[in-house]
Amino acid sequence: MQVNWLRGPVEEWAGDAVLFFAFEKASDRLPGLGRWIEGRAEGLRDSAAWLDFKGKPQQVGVFYNPEDSRAPRVVCAGLGPVDKFDLDKLRTATAVALRKCRDMQLARVILPLAALDGLPAEAGELVREALVGGLLGLHRYAGYKTRDVDSNDFPEVLLVGDEGDDPADLDSLPFYATAVNSGIRLARDLVSAPANIVTPSFLAQTAQEIATRYGFRFNLLGFEEARAMGMGAFTAVAQGSREPACLITLEHCPPGTEGDQPLVFVGKGITFDTGGISLKPSEKLDAMKQDMAGAAAVLGAFEAMGGLQLRRRVVGIMPCTENMPDGQAYKPGDVIQSLSGLTIEIISTDAEGRMILCDALTHAQQYKPALLVDLATLTGAAIIALGNQVAAIMGNHERLIQRVQEIGSGVGERFWPLPLYDFYFEGIKSEVADFKNVGERAAGTIIGGIFLKQFVPDDIPWLHLDIAGTAWTSKDLSVCTQGGTGFGVRTLVELARRWDEFEG
Ligand code: BES
Ligand code: ZN
Ligand code: ZN
Repeated sequence: MQVNWLRGPVEEWAGDAVLFFAFEKASDRLPGLGRWIEGRAEGLRDSAAWLDFKGKPQQVGVFYNPEDSRAPRVVCAGLGPVDKFDLDKLRTATAVALRKCRDMQLARVILPLAALDGLPAEAGELVREALVGGLLGLHRYAGYKTRDVDSNDFPEVLLVGDEGDDPADLDSLPFYATAVNSGIRLARDLVSAPANIVTPSFLAQTAQEIATRYGFRFNLLGFEEARAMGMGAFTAVAQGSREPACLITLEHCPPGTEGDQPLVFVGKGITFDTGGISLKPSEKLDAMKQDMAGAAAVLGAFEAMGGLQLRRRVVGIMPCTENMPDGQAYKPGDVIQSLSGLTIEIISTDAEGRMILCDALTHAQQYKPALLVDLATLTGAAIIALGNQVAAIMGNHERLIQRVQEIGSGVGERFWPLPLYDFYFEGIKSEVADFKNVGERAAGTIIGGIFLKQFVPDDIPWLHLDIAGTAWTSKDLSVCTQGGTGFGVRTLVELARRWDEFEG
């Protein structure tokens, strides 16, 4: 699918449908739609069909205007009441409307800039979020069906402005939306795909393809190399798996940025989490193919950043392995020495995410990060605390947490902070090692954060994003269709794009 951009006189726009938005009060239809009706769809003015279209959120009205063969349909998407408007309403409305257009098998849908006139947000932001929302809402995981396959075809969205519209930065918005869309789609597909396909080697191959496509540096450490380097925590998890484990590094280092301190993104890449010897119950165990969503978000962010040609040094580190029970698997009671030198008493082999991440966080320090962010489907407790639409954010830098919350909410990814007070460390004190990998059940998400905090020096700004609740949706939700959501990609990309605003 393509997003194209055109500027020209209104009379010349041609497509199968033209998309507009409306608030919930019929009397307050948006100016753009009113002008369109006056100029090109006079016959629609008093159409009885409007009576059935209330402009409610997720409502889509299709109106026919056969007199105009260049735009024979008006597709109108509801935004709900004006006082409840936010960008999420716009993203969702565009997604629902374009899905409707796909169902109608339309080939080209016009999105006029005028459709966004009068919406209470900045113009560039409106265009950007409408495009990204529309593209994401059209995504469907293709899967492996050989029968009854849904077509994913949707040839073209044409963004048009008439000659009066200010082209200034609007030219770059379709470019931005396409790049972000392809990064999120990649992450979603990786999370939705089964664990017998998406193995650590598959993630490595995907990373290598991204590196080749965009000229990123790519490095792969195998199990033996990781062990020789001292990554005892990562290899403890990996030793129970027959699927070869690996630690993937991608580096975007545009010319001239070699000396810069990079942003370092670390993603949990457990391609299947059985729990290991602390075996999980079998009910819904298939869901544990999503346990590499952190790594998928990092890969998705690199795919997007490549498309955007960002001028920022960014490193991505993805420790990848299955977590399996096996004759060689690590066991509760084992004491493991991590790359940092710190020793860990294993209480549950199901708390494997923090084991692979702690070594990756130590490994990351060689890059002298300006910012270190890890993303992980770390704890079921994050789902209990915040549900499926809000991720937990923790870290060692209050202001950064707030800024990332703001950034995330602007692009449809919600984060809520949990505290990492030192006293929580009491919960993981051990008799035989520096600490345990698990505490009591209480404050499970925080304990995960406290564990990881032991591996990050205070002078490195660090964020831990627990995306266990947000990585997957079992039903269509706003712009997220059922399956992997690609959560995290947008926030990582925005961090890389806007890091200048954070420094100082
Ligand atoms: N991968 C799971 C967490 C998870 C649960 C992700 C549900 C997505 C959906 C993680 O490795 C895990 O098993 N965590 C344990 C931690 C516990 C042993 C401290 C959990 O949440 O029960
Ligand atoms: Zn686990
Ligand atoms: Zn896990």
